[in-house]
Amino acid sequence: MARKNGILSQINDTWLKGAPNQNKKDVGFILNRIKQNVEQRVAATLKFVLTPAIEVSSFLDITLPGIHRPLGAEHPIIKTMREVVNVFRALGYSVAEGPEIEPDYYNFEALNFPPNHPARDTQDTLFVSGQEKKQQRDRLLLRTHTSPVQVRAMLAQKPPIRVVAPGKVHRADTADATHSPIFHQVEGLAVDTNITFSDLKGTLDHAMKSLFGSAVKTRFYPSFFPFTEPSADVQITCFKCGGKGCRLCKNSGWIELLGCGMVDPNVFKFVESNGYDARKISGFAFGMGVERITMLKYGIDDIQLFYQGDVRFLEQFA
Ligand code: DAH
Repeated sequence: MARKNGILSQINDTWLKGAPNQNKKDVGFILNRIKQNVEQRVAATLKFVLTPAIEVSSFLDITLPGIHRPLGAEHPIIKTMREVVNVFRALGYSVAEGPEIEPDYYNFEALNFPPNHPARDTQDTLFVSGQEKKQQRDRLLLRTHTSPVQVRAMLAQKPPIRVVAPGKVHRADTADATHSPIFHQVEGLAVDTNITFSDLKGTLDHAMKSLFGSAVKTRFYPSFFPFTEPSADVQITCFKCGGKGCRLCKNSGWIELLGCGMVDPNVFKFVESNGYDARKISGFAFGMGVERITMLKYGIDDIQLFYQGDVRFLEQFA
């Protein structure tokens, strides 16, 4: 609609000025109608655009602050679990899960805990009631560790296998600052031809450096688990004092983090039918507590904080 180069002026110049004299009247009439039409539409559009979408009334105070809807975030335990799993996924491990209610067979027997062996006492097991009539191996219990997933994974997949298994475990422990009857573990298993203790050391050294920083060193301390032979506890240099000794590492310079070892040939016997022949293959396994790693990483001194659902605690990890 601009006077100089507007489209209406251009039409006017081309059509009206160029029209033969006897047609000027008709052309002028039509051009006028076009002009009115355009002007009406522009006016209507302007009115629509300039009217507020919500009518300001006495009910609505548009100067009030909006409603804050905080975004949900990953729980610190889930966050650590995923971090650990991702370290091993990057090494080519796949991820498996198993049930939280297991028969005695998977939690104990197939992991080389013989019936009535005292090593079972270390596991503070919660049993499902009313199972007395069943054979011991069929009796259900709440899994005390993620190690039964090792057996399930080997029954599901022939060697070679590389798998990590994150999950929830249960123990008959009284809750205090460092114990919870429900907690989480990440299990690992690698079986192939010629897997050695050096492979175990290299893999876990790499994993600890990924999780706690490249400055940490690892050491393998002799230990015992029925399903590995030899077995070890993995310790890392205290990432707080660098090994000098402080409150966190109880002045030892070392922090104990997880259990591991070479898969005991007796465990392979339980999965031999799926190709696990202890004379031809070997493997290593490891298991770590997710709460413990998270507490060390973030300097949390009470495990109960993870389960109380206090947003003031949880939002610090968002
Ligand atoms: N299952 C053991 C526990 O909860 C931890 C563990 C130790 C797992 C050694 C392993 C392993 O796979 O090789 O106490």
